Amino acid sequence: MKEEQRGIDDSVVTKRKSCTVAFKSLRVVVLTAMFLIWIHQIYHGQKIAITLSRKERFQQCSVDNYLATGLPFLDTAERPPLEEYILRRNNLAKALLADGIDAFVVEPGYTFSYYANVTQPQWESWEPEERPFLMILRPSIAEDGTVVANTSFLVPHFEEDRARLLKMPFQEPISTITYEEHWNYYTTLWEAPMWKETLSPNLMVDEEIRDFIARGLASNGFNVVGLAGEVEAVRQVKTDREIGILRAVNTGTVEAIRSMRKCLYKGVTENEVVEVLDNTLRAAGFEPFFDIVEFGKSAALPHGGHDGTRELQPGELILIDVGAHLYGYSSDVTRTFYPPFFPNPPPSEHNTTEKTFVWNLVLEAQAASVKAMKADATAASVDIAARNIIEAAGYGKQFTHRLGHGIGIKAHESPYLNKGNHIDVLRPGMVFTSEPGVYVWNEFGVRHEDVLVVRGEGDAENISGGFAVGPWEP
Ligand SMILES: *[C@@H]1O[C@H](CO)[C@@H](O)[C@H](O)[C@H]1NC(C)=O
Ligand SMILES: *[C@@H]1O[C@H](CO)[C@@H](O)[C@H](O)[C@H]1NC(C)=O
Ligand SMILES: *[C@@H]1O[C@H](CO)[C@@H](O)[C@H](O)[C@H]1NC(C)=O
Ligand SMILES: *[C@@H]1O[C@H](CO)[C@@H](O)[C@H](O)[C@H]1NC(C)=O
Repeated sequence: MKEEQRGIDDSVVTKRKSCTVAFKSLRVVVLTAMFLIWIHQIYHGQKIAITLSRKERFQQCSVDNYLATGLPFLDTAERPPLEEYILRRNNLAKALLADGIDAFVVEPGYTFSYYANVTQPQWESWEPEERPFLMILRPSIAEDGTVVANTSFLVPHFEEDRARLLKMPFQEPISTITYEEHWNYYTTLWEAPMWKETLSPNLMVDEEIRDFIARGLASNGFNVVGLAGEVEAVRQVKTDREIGILRAVNTGTVEAIRSMRKCLYKGVTENEVVEVLDNTLRAAGFEPFFDIVEFGKSAALPHGGHDGTRELQPGELILIDVGAHLYGYSSDVTRTFYPPFFPNPPPSEHNTTEKTFVWNLVLEAQAASVKAMKADATAASVDIAARNIIEAAGYGKQFTHRLGHGIGIKAHESPYLNKGNHIDVLRPGMVFTSEPGVYVWNEFGVRHEDVLVVRGEGDAENISGGFAVGPWEP
């Protein structure tokens, strides 16, 4: 019994011993692991602290927020295909017939890129040239009876091949009229067979054409008139593809402001916000092309003007007006808001009564302009709808600019929404900004800017993702 007992005891002791050893080595492993994790965390934390500045963390935060949305707004945009350019030129041909014009003449620039995808710097990266390169668009009747555009180019002979290499969006090889350096190129154009028996062809020149070219044409056989009428309306009325791109880039620009806002901190400068916002927009594939970022009393100047070094303080409203490009189309939106670190409701030492009143007033004015933005309304009536509300509240003199403008491949395009424009009448498909503002000198400024498309029926439709909701919810 005893021996047996001892035997059992011995084995228990042996088991206990081996358990203790196992436990001890487990404890060593766990402690070592915890130590390594701790060291790693310190190292990693220091690495972030050492290699990322506050501004870089700000940018990382903003870009991460932006990408976390999944960028769903990009879905409505596609790069304009060949058919889009054919559609635009054929729309122009119909407008030329309606206006009684023989041809439309345009130099590389915004309008040229609208009809044939070539901007001024794409043709002359150095500087605008003295030798004219002109696109001449005429209406003609196709075999099926429809009105289509017939396009030719006036180009220096030695540049003809370079013009072909632009691969402009045409189905057929481009048709050129060439001139030698020592010729009168306006006469060369006038002698081209396309004018047939017409002695003084009626040319409408684009608003961007340089004055010496317009005068050269006018003094060499052509009757020259400026951009107007149905021809001007072609670019004003956006196609569905254009609206898709404008919706994407404007919605995405508002989203970028919202993503950036969440990362703002006390003491950040206006210039730092510009840089971070631009890089946030780039994360969606947009190309930023202007920013107005103003804190507090800087925003009493609607288009900025200070040096951007102001540091953000609690209680200051932030005004941001920013634009970016997608496939050559512009965004132009404005938000005015408090940073997230400024509490809502505000601490009692901040009197925000007037700022809050003005913030809501400007939003009310914007809503009134959207209601007024209907087909067949005059441009003036839309401005006046917003202005009446601001004037009635006693801030009329502080609403110092027009209500808005057309927007497309240029951020500012005709028609312009100002209270004197009783000539331009809104058509379905026109796209405008509505951007009322109130600027209280030496105090603050508020502007809300969204982009809207005029519809055939009902109110204009917002294509910048919806309006601001409140000073903490821009
Ligand atoms: C228009 O030009 C851009 C480059 O500037 C090019 O990527 C695009 O394919 C062109 N579009 C057409 C329809 O040729
Ligand atoms: C365009 O006009 C020219 C000159 O009138 C003519 O020779 C040519 O066939 C026309 N092109 C098309 C595609 O209609
Ligand atoms: C806050 O400012 C408004 C004017 O903007 C003024 O009427 C009001 O008395 C002020 N409130 C306090 C508590 O000072
Ligand atoms: C803005 O437009 C979007 C998309 O069409 C729509 O869902 C939203 O309700 C609109 N917001 C307002 C306030 O009209």
